[in-house]
This record gives sequence, structure tokens and C-alpha cells, in this order.
Amino acid sequence: MKIESIVGYLQKQMGMNPDAVGFYTMKKAVYTAMLSRDLDDLDEYYQLIQSNGEALQGLIDAVVIPETSFFRDKKPFKVLKDNLRQLYRMLCSDGEPLKVLSVPSSTGEEPYSIAMTCLEAGLNYGEFEIHACDISQRVLDIAQRGLYSEYSFRGSHTTYQQRYFTPKGHFFQINDQLRKSVNFFQGNLISDQFTSQVEKKFHIVFCRNLLIYFDKPTKCKAISVVESLLHDEGLLVVGHADTAILPSLGYKPFLDQFSFTYVKSHNQQKAVVTTANNVLMEKGKQVMAALVAARTDIAASPPSPVSSEHNEETMLPNSSIADVVQEIEALLSKKDFAQATSSCQMLMEKPGDNSTAHHYLGRIAFLQGEMPVAEKQFKKAVYLQPNDEKALCFLAKISKKQGDDAAALRYQQRANRIKARTLSAQESL
Ligand SMILES: C[S@@+](CC[C@H](N)C(=O)[O-])C[C@H]1O[C@@H](n2cnc3c(N)ncnc32)[C@H](O)[C@@H]1O
Repeated sequence: MKIESIVGYLQKQMGMNPDAVGFYTMKKAVYTAMLSRDLDDLDEYYQLIQSNGEALQGLIDAVVIPETSFFRDKKPFKVLKDNLRQLYRMLCSDGEPLKVLSVPSSTGEEPYSIAMTCLEAGLNYGEFEIHACDISQRVLDIAQRGLYSEYSFRGSHTTYQQRYFTPKGHFFQINDQLRKSVNFFQGNLISDQFTSQVEKKFHIVFCRNLLIYFDKPTKCKAISVVESLLHDEGLLVVGHADTAILPSLGYKPFLDQFSFTYVKSHNQQKAVVTTANNVLMEKGKQVMAALVAARTDIAASPPSPVSSEHNEETMLPNSSIADVVQEIEALLSKKDFAQATSSCQMLMEKPGDNSTAHHYLGRIAFLQGEMPVAEKQFKKAVYLQPNDEKALCFLAKISKKQGDDAAALRYQQRANRIKARTLSAQESL
């Protein structure tokens, strides 16, 4: 028996794509789970995980990537807060609570952030129901406990911390009423039993930073499961890195996250949101995907008068751009695309232009074979930083793949001219 067979079995159970998760990461998880059971024989371990649900769960717990934080990516929560009352009026009949599903919930920061957003938007307890699911019982136990370190807040959101948490030593305990407002349950989104496990229809489903780990057929299956759980006019919120597959499945953005010219201030953004809601109403039964995780245009917006709370939420982490770039490079070499995308989002929040973030978002998409997304991101990088020779080389490769040899040649010549200029500048020093 080879370890690859166990990794293959795990992949089938979870839909995980070893290329996205990292083959070595999966192998390491297998060995770690074996050691925790004092087993050193692969055959014996394989038999065990096939016959014993608890042993399989232990392996799943060892392989999952539970990376999350409160109000992760910020924008989906802002858009939700700005639109929640309208969505509540539109989607909920008299007395019906707004039903939200967070899958995967990981250690709970996402569903609790949704609950806080509902309260902040003016809904009362009882007017919303949050259900939260994850495949890993270990992360759900942490979620249900509701005790978080500073790291879960990423040094931000202190207003929420003060309003909804009580300090406990070096940790923060979520208020009991808020904790109880989220119903956690264990489930595998891609298993055939999932829909029977969840009998409700949800007005909003958050399904973020999971699809990226799946191969294409599993992504399609996951989306169709989510779709079957969504209210006809419901809203699907996905992570930035998850978006590439959606247009091919007939989804349309609720907001145009990648537009350059569209949104240049918070006020205009509101106007776009209103328009989008009109579209949402006009389109009736069409499901909309809220592709709002990384609104690249906001960071470049001129500063606008904002509340002290907003200022606090947009506080920047202290790491320098060079540090983040180094981290992204390391993540790319490990093929940890989800984490690399999060780091790009961190870059977006830094002052100055977003060319570096677009460059790396392009590379992430390119490495995953998502050429239209890669092309869009590299074009933005070059628009903001015309001397980005590497982005031009990637654009040349993409054009070539698309069969547009003339464009490929133009991009390559531009890249060559930049390289020649850089070399001659270096020689004259
Ligand atoms: C990166 S976290 C995302 C958490 C949160 N949605 C966010 O964006 O911050 C990924 C989570 O997916 C869970 N997961 C992996 N495969 C799953 C599956 N087939 N069904 C449900 N959850 C799954 C993992 O246990 C892990 O906690």
C-alpha cells in the first residue's frame, strides 16, 4: 500500500484537490494522524479510516485548513450591513427570520461576524437565524466555545470586541446570547447526505474560501448543493479566490468587484449597491453571486469622511509591502493559493496603488489555470505600473494560449523594451 492511495481516498471523501492543498501537506496530515493513533502500517491505517468514522474524522481534522478571522475581507460584511434591512424586507415574509448559512464556518469567526452584522444593521435576536457548518468537528468545538485570541481579530475591530466580547485573560469570550444565536453542525458539503441534513432554504449563503481547494467537478457539485439550499432570490457570497468558476455556471455579480472606472468613493459605491439591488429585484428568481470579497477599487479611492469605527476597521497591519510580497512568494511556491489571496487582500489595504496586489492575484489565477481572471489582473497591474515587465510577459503567454499571436508579440516586445531600458540604466550607474 502506498500513501498516495490514502491521499486519494481522502481526496474522494473531501473533494480536496491535492494540487491546491499541496500533496505534501496531505501526506504529512496522513502521517500525523497515523502517529496520533500509534500506527505505523499504512494498510492497517487505510482499513481503519474506511471502517471507523471517528478515525476518518481525525484525518480530516488533520488536513483541513481552518484559516479565518472576524470580518475577513471586510467588504462582504459592509455590503451586507448596508443592504441587510432591504434584503430582510424583500426576502422574508411576515415574522419570518432571515436565514443565513455559513459553510464552511471553520472556528466560528465568519458566522459570528454575520450575526454581529445583523445586529449592527438593526435586526433583533429572533429576526435572524445563523446556521454554520464545517466538516471538522475539532474546529466546530472551538467555534461553539466562542473563546478567541487577539489573532482572530487581526488587531482590528476593537469596537466589536468591546460590544460583543468579554476579556478573559489573554482571550475574548463572545457574549452568550450571540454565541447561542449561531447553530453549529458538522457536515460535508459535498456528501450526498448534506441536503437532507439541512432541510431549510436560506436567504443568504456564505460559502467562502472552500471552493478553491476543490477540483472542478467537486466545485460544480458544491455550487449545485449550495444552489439547492438557496431561496429563489437569495444571495450567495463567495470568496475572491472562489469566483472564477461562477460565470460559467450562469452566476452574475451582485457588484462588479473588478471594475476600475466604476467605484471611486464610498458614496458612489452606495449608488452601485442600490442599482444592484434593483437588478436583484427585477431579475426575480435569478440567484446573484455577491463577488465582493476583494473590491480592488476601494483602496485606491480618495479618503472620504468616515466614522471612527470605520477608521478603526481599515487600520493597516504593520508589516511592510516587501514583507507581504515575500510571504506571497513563499505561499505561491507551496501552492497555498487561498492564503496567498488573503495576503494580496492585505496588500490592497495598504496606501498607494494596488499594482503589486493585482500582479500577484494575476499570478495566483494563472497558476490555477484561470486565464480570464489572470488576464484582467495583469492588465490592471500594467495599467497602474506600466513598467511591470513580468506582468507583460504573463500577458504575452496568456494571449498566446488564447491564440492571439499578434497581441502576444506586442506584449512581449513591450516587456523586452522595459528589460533593455532597465539593463542600460543599471549599466550606466
Ligand atoms: C479556509 S477555511 C474557510 C472559513 C471561512 N469560510 C472563511 O472564509 O474565513 C476552510 C474550512 O473548510 C472546511 N472544509 C473543508 N472541506 C469541507 C467540506 N467538504 N465540507 C464542509 N467544510 C469543509 C475546513 O474544515 C475549514 O475549516
